[in-house]
Amino acid sequence: MAPYTDRRNALLAKMPPNSLAVVFASPMRIRSRDTDFVYRQNSDFHYLTGFDEPEALLVLVRGARAQKSLLFCRAKDELRERWEGERLGPKSAPKRLGVDAAYPSSQISRRLPKLLMDKERLFMEIGEAAAEQQVLGFLGEIRMSREAHRAPKHVDLLGPLLHEMRAIKRGDEIELMREAARISSDAHHRAMRTAQPGMGEWQLEAEIVYEFMRRGARAPAYTSIVGSGANACVLHYVENSAVMQDGDLVLIDAGCEYKHYAADITRTFPVSGRFTEAQRNVYEIVLRAQLAAIDACKPGNLLDAPHQAAIREVIKGLVDLGLLEGDLDMLIKEDAHQPYFMHGTSHFLGLDVHDVGARKQAKDWRTLEPGMVLTVEPGIYMVKESVPEQYRGIGIRIEDDVLITESGHEVLTEDAVKTITDIEALMGGMSG
Ligand code: GLY
Ligand code: MN
Ligand code: MN
Repeated sequence: MAPYTDRRNALLAKMPPNSLAVVFASPMRIRSRDTDFVYRQNSDFHYLTGFDEPEALLVLVRGARAQKSLLFCRAKDELRERWEGERLGPKSAPKRLGVDAAYPSSQISRRLPKLLMDKERLFMEIGEAAAEQQVLGFLGEIRMSREAHRAPKHVDLLGPLLHEMRAIKRGDEIELMREAARISSDAHHRAMRTAQPGMGEWQLEAEIVYEFMRRGARAPAYTSIVGSGANACVLHYVENSAVMQDGDLVLIDAGCEYKHYAADITRTFPVSGRFTEAQRNVYEIVLRAQLAAIDACKPGNLLDAPHQAAIREVIKGLVDLGLLEGDLDMLIKEDAHQPYFMHGTSHFLGLDVHDVGARKQAKDWRTLEPGMVLTVEPGIYMVKESVPEQYRGIGIRIEDDVLITESGHEVLTEDAVKTITDIEALMGGMSG
């Protein structure tokens, strides 16, 4: 309970007097007819409450002097609970969650307009149409009412206040991310040990998900990508439906969600356990780029520094392979890597796989700070028709999760092997 109460108080302290913030729980989503997707709480809501039921609303009220946290949640209902499982209910919520008061969700339309009246400013996120409509409806009601109440004059995004808190991971958040990283590393190892020519990509996906679930991570943090051969060049390939061929590489981009926190790992390895010479050449470039980018992960560096380091190594490598020609700095200036490396190197990671937090301040990249977690994931994709035959269709990405520390960084996913020697050793002891 403590971290959630502390976070609500920290957010309230950032809100100006006479303001209100609303954070809605995620709705249930239909998968087919009367069957729902597995429920996943909205990350902001989870961060502030640790409460994972749908049909809930958190209201933070910052008065002129006092402040309070109010929760709306599903009422107890014996019959529904027989079918769907226990509900916390508003009576137990204050003691269990540390909120100041709780009411049944059915009272939102009666109570929320009153809370909104005469406040100067409302903070909310944009993105859940039904919730937004409901709040805008209440604002309209207050504006139209004959009573002398006023609706908030300003409606602001909550993100800039809340997401800056989420961008810096603290205390047990880091421990949960370490565990997500450990489970995901082991899942990649399981896939490497299992892979064989003739297996389906979906079968490696199954190995990955099996490892996640048996370790208590009940879902992938995003749909797993298992792309063999040229499928590796489709950046978000999720069909995972091809049969893997001898001589091909397979790129797996998969990470679990453990207690709401994501890992995000990519490894690329030979289906048969041995890299060909052409694959080795490209792999070594991507690995050098990734290590250079990880080296650039330290406090005070710009958030863009890892990407710049990766670009330099990728371009150098492509020159060595004879795919690019010219002066290194000129090639960097011209973005010569783009046809081969067409995505960014980093994003924040946390409760969401592409986690929140501003990347720039005004137009400038922000600096890295202790507690930030980011991915480092350069790649090379040989999709240009003009690449020599032996490289055509090769797609390689290597992705790790990096925590910025006071003295530099900690690679959360360092257990997952990534040198050619270590991968070949793990896959069959045939390295040499
Ligand atoms: N797995 C999605 C990404 O790497 O950004
Ligand atoms: Mn990824
Ligand atoms: Mn990523």
